[in-house]
Parts: sequence; structure tokens; C-alpha cells
Amino acid sequence: MTDQSPPIADFQLITRAGDEAGQKTTYGIPLAVLAELTHRCPLQCPYCSNPLEMEVASAELTTAEWCRVMDELAEIGVLQIHFSGGEPAVRKDLVDLVRHATQVGLYSNLITSAVMLTKARLQDLADAGLCHVQISVQGSESIVADRVGRFKNGHVKKLQVAAWTREVGLPLTINAVMHRQNLHQLPEIIDMAVALDADRLEVANVQYYGWALKNREALIPTFAQVETTNQIVAEAQDRLAGILDIDYVVPDYYAQRPKQCMGGWGRQFFNISPSGKVLPCHAAESITGMEFDSVRGNKSIRWIWDNSEAFNKYRGTGWMPEPCQSCELKEVDFGGCRCQAFALTGSAGNTDPACAKSDLHAQIFARATTESAEAQDRFIYRNFAGGAVEAEEL
Ligand code: FES
Repeated sequence: MTDQSPPIADFQLITRAGDEAGQKTTYGIPLAVLAELTHRCPLQCPYCSNPLEMEVASAELTTAEWCRVMDELAEIGVLQIHFSGGEPAVRKDLVDLVRHATQVGLYSNLITSAVMLTKARLQDLADAGLCHVQISVQGSESIVADRVGRFKNGHVKKLQVAAWTREVGLPLTINAVMHRQNLHQLPEIIDMAVALDADRLEVANVQYYGWALKNREALIPTFAQVETTNQIVAEAQDRLAGILDIDYVVPDYYAQRPKQCMGGWGRQFFNISPSGKVLPCHAAESITGMEFDSVRGNKSIRWIWDNSEAFNKYRGTGWMPEPCQSCELKEVDFGGCRCQAFALTGSAGNTDPACAKSDLHAQIFARATTESAEAQDRFIYRNFAGGAVEAEEL
């Protein structure tokens, strides 16, 4: 998802509750879908949520295919589409896609790194019916931010595009992905979001799968940083109530309880990959051995949501092992993150080690403490060649 981390918190999820049908719980189609238009991106953030093996341009859904997908989404009751990537603005048909979303009645949000947008293109997007813009930032000033994204003058461009967003009358969210090497700038990032007249700021600590897992030693914060961040966010939420909404995604290696990832697997969320795979979460392809149906196949999106093996595998609570199965909070966190369980234990069906009830939790906590103290700061930048180790100088 562009140069950002966890999409579940990147936008306001609106969902329908599951309803009872006899003995079987069914899950209403989510009201919002994440459309990853491309994995191409001019930035190379070391925590990108795209898979390590990214889909090339020739594999991407065409304009006509995306329009057909949007027709189907609208028909089955989806109300919001979040255009993401990679960088969605690399698609030359972005304005056409937004216009089609508008025509079929979908609320559209653009999740962007911003560096490829001009004021004229933003105006075209607004005229096509775009409803909201979400811009990611990598720091509060160019030295840190441009290094993280490996894109010269990117930070300045983002500030310009944020100002244009408000000038063309669109609501703005700033998404700040935080880690050990930029957490010291959080107070300035909060001030920056206010100065940019943003409606919402998302302070999202990096979640460790995919590219971020590859870069964990360079990104993971110290426990002291996390405690300070908690205080800064709580104080700012109080002080800025009514001015700026601040959402906060904590780094769960240091947590006691796992996050309710994706609102629970197959309960509230799906995304569509650049080549049309329908995924229970943005990182699902990191779980090896799972098959995912595509909108290019002969099954409808509704069928895939209701019936596909991938969506049903970790849905509900029946799949859970102990200690999850007898945990009183199993319907609160739904077992945490399946991708993280796979990354840290080798099986997506295990308890997420972010949970203090996991046998592995103390080990994960200790590993985070050790890695954050080792100060290995060089990034492995995201690219289609499997990554590029940061040189001494940008
Ligand atoms: Fe948490 Fe995939 S990222 S379930």
C-alpha cells in the first residue's frame, strides 16, 4: 500500500456485522474495499506493505477490468473504494477509474505518496468525484523523510500536494508510519498535520511482515520510545480534540494483547491485488501454501468472499488452537494477526506471538529489545529486484 504499512488502519473501516443463519454465521460483504491498482511506486520505503515478490505492470488489471470489478462491487453492496498501491498515481487511467467509481456510486479515497501528483491532476480527480485524499509522510523534514522513502525532494513535494488537496476542497488524512528512526519527530509531525489543515492523522507504528520484517533490525523501536510515543499521542489526542482526529496503531511486539488484525480474518475486509487476486488482507500472500481466487477467474467476488478456502480458513473462532480457543477475548481480537503468526512461528494457524498468552511472547519481546539496542540502521530498500541495501549516502 504505497509506502505505508498496515492498511487496516489506513482508512475508516465501515463494516456490516455478521448475521445468524441457522447454525452458521455468515459475514456480510464489507462496505469498503482496498483496490491495490499497482505495485509500482517511485518511493522505496523499507516497510512497504506490498509483498516481497511484487506484481509487474504487465500483470495489472486493465482499465476495463477494474471498471468491471467496480460494477460488481457496487452491485453486491460495497460503498467505499480505497485506491492504493504501490503508488496509484502511476496508473495513467487513475482519473478514469475514479470517475467510474463515482458513476457506480462508490465513495472513493486515494491513498498516495503524493509525489506524482500535480495540482491540475488533483483538480481532475476532484472533478471526477474523488472524495478523500490520504498522504503518507516519512518524517517531519526532508533529511529523515527523503532518506526513508529514498526519494529526493519527496517531503517538500508531499507538503505541496497536501496544500493543493485542501485548495481543491478535498478532505485530507496524513498517514505517518513510525519506527525507531523517525519516532523522535512525532511531535513535529503532529504539528505539521495541524498546519496542513488535515482532518485526521494516523500514527501507525510499523507492523513486521514482508519488507518491514526484512528491515526489522533497522526499524524496531526501543521500549522507551514506545512508552514516550504513547504519552505523546495521548496528550495530543486530548489537546487537539475537535481539531485533528488522531488514530494510533501500536507496535505489537511490545503489547500484551494482539491487535484485532483486519477486524478478524474474513470478517470485515478484503483487498484486490494489482492482478486481481481477492485477498483477506494485504499481506496474505506472505502465507505460503494458500491459494487465492482472482476476479479474472469464473467466480464472483461474492462467491469468493462467502465460499473460498482462503477466506474461510481462519474465519470466526473454530480454527483457533489453545490458548486462544478458551480465551475470553477470542471474539475481541480474533486471534490477532495470521500473517504475523506465520512470519514468527511458521504456521498461520498458531497463536499470534504478540499475545502475552503465547509461549513465544517473551522471546519476541526480548528479540525486539535486543534488535532495537543494536543500532543496525541501514535499510534494505523495496524494489522489484528483491531489495537494495542502503549505501553510505543517499
Ligand atoms: Fe494481519 Fe494479514 S496482516 S492477518
